[in-house]
Amino acid sequence: MVFGREIILEVKNLSKVYDKEVLHIDHLALRRGRIYGIIGPSGAGKSTLLRLVNLLEPPSGGEIHFLGRPISMNGNVSRTDAARREMTLVFQKPLLFQTSVEENVAFGLKARRFTREEVRARVDILLGKVGMREFAGRHAGTLSGGEAQRVALARAVAFEPALLLLDEPTANLDPSNIELIERLILDLNRETAMTIVMVTHNIFQARRVAREVIFMHEGRVVETGETEKIFTSPEDPRTKAFVEGRMVY
Ligand SMILES: Nc1ncnc2c1ncn2[C@@H]1O[C@H](COP(=O)(O)OP(=O)(O)O)[C@@H](O)[C@H]1O
Ligand SMILES: [Mg+2]
Repeated sequence: MVFGREIILEVKNLSKVYDKEVLHIDHLALRRGRIYGIIGPSGAGKSTLLRLVNLLEPPSGGEIHFLGRPISMNGNVSRTDAARREMTLVFQKPLLFQTSVEENVAFGLKARRFTREEVRARVDILLGKVGMREFAGRHAGTLSGGEAQRVALARAVAFEPALLLLDEPTANLDPSNIELIERLILDLNRETAMTIVMVTHNIFQARRVAREVIFMHEGRVVETGETEKIFTSPEDPRTKAFVEGRMVY
């Protein structure tokens, strides 16, 4: 295993059919330790892809391999321990438990039999990272959108999952929260080997944060590549239209 080259997630012929097929990805591979930005117009299938990878919904067909093991084959999902523990999805609207900020972040840690002191210390570090230390005792229901999303992120990364999936995590936030969360994503990536996949409809955000960009359109991955290449010399005319803001949707 060479750091930065190891494939941690691979999908093949992955398909999702609702009334019609809304996703069909021939092949996509994500490497350990990288930040990927998934961009594409509304309805392109970005959220569907994250939901399938996170096993929230079964695919209609195809394969998903995670950390070298199949977790979904031909519509049959097998929720391996790795899939449960090593992958987290954060939504656009943060889902928090109706309890304190501290309890929210401690949740997963307690389940793993850390001592109380270990849990407390880890929660404190995590809240510090997201600038929420002084909110530790607050009830989650009293937080603003940006504060809640920061807590959701702290909870999601408490375990340093191998794969962090973010679905438009800053879509409803103000600029200062957006900046904080982008910085956190970059820090996490630098300090850990976490692979981060961020769906964003904001091409500027993808350019700021992602090392590689995946452009989706009408359920397909049209083009993937190093971020600067996608923005400066995309190969597909649809990618070019999208990054230049000319794609009508
Ligand atoms: N539960 C569902 N039932 C039927 N159609 C769905 C469902 N979820 C998503 N879709 C459709 O699948 C397509 C892709 O949606 P989505 O993955 O949410 O796109 P994106 O996140 O890129 O905006 C859209 O046409 C959407 O209407
Ligand atoms: Mg979406």
